[in-house]
Amino acid sequence: MTRSEGLPNGGHYPVWDLAVRLIHWFLPVAIAVMWWSGQQGRMDIHEKIGYAVLCLAITRIIWGFIGSEGARFRSFVRGPQTVLRYLANGGQYAGHNPLGALSVMLLLGLLCSQGASGMFSRDDLLFEGPFAYWVGDLSGTMTEWHKTNWLFLQGFVALHLVSVFWHQWRKKQPLVQAMWFGKAGHKSATTAPKPLWQALMVALLLGAGLWGLISVAPVAPSYY
Ligand code: HEM
Ligand code: HEM
Repeated sequence: MTRSEGLPNGGHYPVWDLAVRLIHWFLPVAIAVMWWSGQQGRMDIHEKIGYAVLCLAITRIIWGFIGSEGARFRSFVRGPQTVLRYLANGGQYAGHNPLGALSVMLLLGLLCSQGASGMFSRDDLLFEGPFAYWVGDLSGTMTEWHKTNWLFLQGFVALHLVSVFWHQWRKKQPLVQAMWFGKAGHKSATTAPKPLWQALMVALLLGAGLWGLISVAPVAPSYY
């Protein structure tokens, strides 16, 4: 029995700051919209939400260096030996466990790769990503990658869900409450969480940078 068990909101100690939680819960909603819009060819929606996913995944990565203590990669990313030891012996962690940390990095990487490749992709009909014309024939390869990466992303999201459910219901660790309320049963951070506006600034700067790149990217000449 861990101290956090039975606590409706996951525990007493701050673990995930608001930026981590807002970015996290945006993702399942956004991924569902991306899947639907990708299938339906609703590229107007696909494009905009895709930029948001890309900027927020990069914001989370930057937050892993400048964010609150619990959000920083150095507080939870561990070497292979620790991962193997965790696989052999298990253990309780306030933040991500060593294996969970690997999946965090992988999911964030796949999200970035999905968003970035989309910007070079084109469908067979009417839409092309803002950098598709610029890379010419390479756009076909990027479109293929966009589709293949999607298969990886789906696979690892499924694995993520299975492992969260496993910890939550079989091992009775209130991870979902922790990701929702930001509290855990174990103390991890010794410093105060960083304010949301700092993460917001990072996201806005990235958004502005992306917008700048899109507006200078060469576009196909119009034939009309
Ligand atoms: C497309 C869907 C999803 C994606 C891409 C995704 C991605 C991620 C990422 C990147 C993290 C690391 C959080 C961070 O440190 O910033 C994470 C953690 C977490 N996610 Fe998700 N997630 C998804 C859906 C869900 C859903 C539906 C649930 C709940 C049922 C969930 C529950 C959690 C929990 C509990 C953690 C914390 C795990 C831990 O304590 O180690 N996720 N997720
Ligand atoms: C980052 C999140 C993204 C996700 C999860 C995502 C997901 C998807 C999915 C599921 C499809 C359908 C694939 C298939 O039919 O096999 C698709 C297609 C496509 N996506 Fe994305 N996408 C993302 C970002 C973007 C961005 C930012 C752009 C461009 C601005 C983009 C451009 C395209 C294009 C052009 C297609 C059509 C490819 C084709 O029909 O051959 N995507 N995407």
